[in-house]
Amino acid sequence: MNQPHADMQAKLVILGEVLFDCFPDGEAVLGGAPFNVAWHLQAFGIAPFFVSAVGNDALGERILNTVTHWGMDTRGISRVAQATGQVQIQIENGEPHYSIDEHSAYDEITLPDTLPEGDLILYHGSLALRHPHNQAQLQSLIDGRSLKRFIDINLRDPWWQAEHCLDLIRYADCVKINLDEMHVLAAAAEIYHDDWLQRAQHFKQYFSIVNLLVTRGDQGATLINAEGDTLHTGEPPHSPAFVDSVGAGDAFASVTLLGYLHNWDWHTTLERAQQFASFIVTQQGALCHDPNTYQDFKNLWGIL
Ligand SMILES: Nc1ncnc2c1ncn2[C@@H]1O[C@H](COP(=O)(O)OP(=O)(O)O)[C@@H](O)[C@H]1O
Ligand SMILES: [Mg+2]
Repeated sequence: MNQPHADMQAKLVILGEVLFDCFPDGEAVLGGAPFNVAWHLQAFGIAPFFVSAVGNDALGERILNTVTHWGMDTRGISRVAQATGQVQIQIENGEPHYSIDEHSAYDEITLPDTLPEGDLILYHGSLALRHPHNQAQLQSLIDGRSLKRFIDINLRDPWWQAEHCLDLIRYADCVKINLDEMHVLAAAAEIYHDDWLQRAQHFKQYFSIVNLLVTRGDQGATLINAEGDTLHTGEPPHSPAFVDSVGAGDAFASVTLLGYLHNWDWHTTLERAQQFASFIVTQQGALCHDPNTYQDFKNLWGIL
């Protein structure tokens, strides 16, 4: 009874940025794709091990307090001399545009001694890997460990390089990327097709990606799985409560990981990921602070 599935034995490690998203109305809310994913999964009952860094400043204090209150393990979050990360967000036609500082606390991640042992699932993005320091930390996390990698590409100008992103995704177990980003990276790899799906299939094959998840905003999402089969979600419902699409991709990624850990089939996983992502676009910013909302999703999905 209630034996966790084998995959539930694997510990999820999430590495990357935690920062404040500063909106034009002056509101500053917690964010950073890896942090958002960790936040959602904590509320969905997974307790990921989040590895990041915050400053020795008031914002860093605020992050640690909020995270502790949410029940998250803070042992992987170090405090460093650099200031806590902040991102200025402008919303144009519901779409976010980001302005990101050159160097922030999350660029100074150090792997803690308390990293979980055994089989790991590692989630990381691309922003926090923009500088060599964190790139080296990632490499030492990967080296000599048995782990599956889930990579969420977020191309944030000017903080990305196509070659580096292409190196990151090679051989990954799952890559989440939105359609625009897929086109940009495919072009950098000189992969061309008139048809976007064929382009994605070629892209997946060329980089030996096991599962490629292409999200397409209000058009839904498409998975090309290990066997090369294609699964499309339908279009998400167009909600009159839409606020902004900040964090839609992170919400989608978090439920994809949840499905992975609970061993849901891909069809179920994608449907639920879309359900949650299309709820997050009705909230300002990427997070929900109400545990009851997460509990409602857990009830809907039959998670104890
Ligand atoms: N306007 C929207 N209405 C409903 N759901 C949306 C909307 N925009 C995005 N989503 C959901 O969120 C997912 C990820 O969004 P997308 O914009 O593709 O990712 P990213 O945030 O990484 O750019 C989509 O596949 C869809 O399920
Ligand atoms: Mg994204």
